[in-house]
Amino acid sequence: MNNYNWTEKNKELIWVDDDTLNITSTIIDRHIENGDGKKLAYIFESDDKEVIQLTYKDLFEKSNQSANLLKKYVVNKGDRVFLFLPRIPDLYINFLGVLKAGAIAGTMFSAFGADALKDRLSNSGAKIVFTTKELSERILAVKSELPELQHIFIIDDEEYIKEFASQKKEFSPVPTRSEDYAFMLYTSGTTGKPKGIVHAHAALVQQIETAKYVLDLKEGDMYWCTADPGWVTGIVYGILTPLALGVTSFVHTGRFEPDLWYSFVEKYKISVWYTAPTAIRMMMAKGDELVKKHDFSKLRYLASVGEPLNPEAIEWSQKVFEGKYFHDTWWQTETGSIMIANTPDLPLKIGSMGKPLPWVDAEIIDDEGNPVPPDTEGNLAILPPWPSIMRTVWQNQEKYSSYFLKNWYISGDRAKKDTDGYFWFIGRADDVIKTSGERVGPFEVESALVEYEGVIEAGVIGKPDEIRGEIIKAFVVLKPGVTPSEELKTKLQEHVKHHLAGHAYPREIEFIDKLPKTRSGKIMRRILKAKELGQDIGDTSTLEEY
Ligand code: PRX
Repeated sequence: MNNYNWTEKNKELIWVDDDTLNITSTIIDRHIENGDGKKLAYIFESDDKEVIQLTYKDLFEKSNQSANLLKKYVVNKGDRVFLFLPRIPDLYINFLGVLKAGAIAGTMFSAFGADALKDRLSNSGAKIVFTTKELSERILAVKSELPELQHIFIIDDEEYIKEFASQKKEFSPVPTRSEDYAFMLYTSGTTGKPKGIVHAHAALVQQIETAKYVLDLKEGDMYWCTADPGWVTGIVYGILTPLALGVTSFVHTGRFEPDLWYSFVEKYKISVWYTAPTAIRMMMAKGDELVKKHDFSKLRYLASVGEPLNPEAIEWSQKVFEGKYFHDTWWQTETGSIMIANTPDLPLKIGSMGKPLPWVDAEIIDDEGNPVPPDTEGNLAILPPWPSIMRTVWQNQEKYSSYFLKNWYISGDRAKKDTDGYFWFIGRADDVIKTSGERVGPFEVESALVEYEGVIEAGVIGKPDEIRGEIIKAFVVLKPGVTPSEELKTKLQEHVKHHLAGHAYPREIEFIDKLPKTRSGKIMRRILKAKELGQDIGDTSTLEEY
C-alpha cells in the first residue's frame, strides 16, 4: 500500500472513540457546535425560479427530524433506506438523516423507470424509500414484487409533512464503526443486472483530502457540483465533501440549459465548478457569444469528470473563461474518490487525465497483472487498499473478487502512462457504455428491449458521438411477421424510457435479421461495434452466427 499517512488526516474527523465514526458528526453536526449554523449549506433554484436556502442549522435540524422519523419506523443499523427524489432539499436532508440513523443510504436517479427501481430495491432489500407523489407511481407499479419494502415515504403528502414536522430537532448520530457501511450505489457492468457498490464511513478522510487538493475547495467558496446524487459524484462531491469543508453549494433542480447555467454561475458568484464533458461540449456548441453576455470573474477553479475530456473542450474553456480551464479528473463509483487528476499545481498536458494523486499507486498492467513499459496500452490498475475503496458488492462476493488480479484493483479502463507519469485514457476494456457521462450496461437495455412484444433479441453498443461521448445504439431482431418501421422504433424507445430509464434509451435503432453470437450464444457486441464503425471485425472463428 502507498504509505501516505491517513492516521494523521483522520484526526481531522470527529470520532467518538478509535473506531467509532459516523460521518454526519463531521459533515454537519460539527458546524453547529462550532457556531457556524447560520452559514448557508445549500441554495436551490428550480426552473420556475423558486429559490430555497438551507443553512447548516436548517440541515442539522431537519436531518435530525429525518433520523427521528426513521427510528420511529424502526430503522436499525445496517438497514437499507433509499432515496428516489429529484434534486430538492428533501433528498439532501434525508440522505443525511439515513446516515445519522446508522442505516445505509441508497440513491436512485429520478429518471429511473419501474424495472430499474425494482432491480435496485429488490437486490438491496430496502426497507424504506423516500419519494414524491409523482415518482411514487413507478415504485407502486412494482411494489408487489418487493416483499422487504415496508414503507414508502411520500415527501409531498400532507400526512407525511405533518409527521415529519412533529419530530424532534435533536438527535445523536448512531455510533457506527468506521468500517460500517454508509451508502450504496448501483452501477452497471457488461453483464447482468446493476451491482450494488457499497462504501464505508471510513472513506470520508480521503474524500475530503481530494476535494481540497484536486478541486481546490476551501471555506468561503461558492461551489457548484452539477452531478445528481443518483451518481457517485453527486454524493461524494455534491453532499459529503462540500459540507465537511463548510462551503456553500448551489443546486439547480431543473434541466441543463447552457444560457441558464451561465446565468447561475454569474448570479451565485460560483468560484468552483465541477461538471462533465458532455455539458461542456453542449455549452461549446452554443457558441461564444452567449458566454460573453455573462460575468465569470468570480470563477476560480473548473474541473470535469465522468468521460474523456477532449482537448477542444479544454482549449475552448481557456478561451472563454479568461484563461481558466476545466481540469480533468478520473475515478469510478468503486474507487470512492478521485484517483488521477490534473491538480492545480500540475503543468497541463492537454488530453491527459493528469497524474495519480500522492496517495494513489496507479499502474498500467497487462492481462497477467504485470506492469507494462511507458507509452504502452494496458489495464489501468490501482494498488489497494485505500480508505475510499468500495467495501463490497452487495450480496455478490464473486463480482467483488473479479475486480482484483494479483495485488491489483482492475478498473476496467484501458490507458497508457507516459514517461513523465501522466495517464492517458484509451477506452473501456468491456462493453460498458458512457452516454453523457452516465454509465449504462448494454445488458440492461437489451433486457428492456426484448420485453417488448414483437422483439426476439437485441444487441446494444455505445456509438461514438461528438457531444454525448457515446450514444446508445440497439440492433433489434423482430419476430417473423412484425414489420419494421419508424413508428416501431419510437415505440421501442418509449418502452425503454418507461421501464428502464429516461437517459438509457437507444437514440438509434437498427432492425437486423440476426445478431453475431459466440457458439455458446453470447451476443458479440464487439462485432456489432466494429461493423457500425466500418472497422475490421477481427477474429470471427469463435462465432456461431455471423
Ligand atoms: O470509463 C471511465 C469513465 O467513467 C467510468 C466510471 O464511471 P462511474 O462509476 O459512473 O463514475 C463516474 C464518475 C466518478 C470509468 O471507468 N471515466 C471517469 N472519469 C473519466 C472517465 N473516462 C475518461 N476520462 C475521465 N476523466
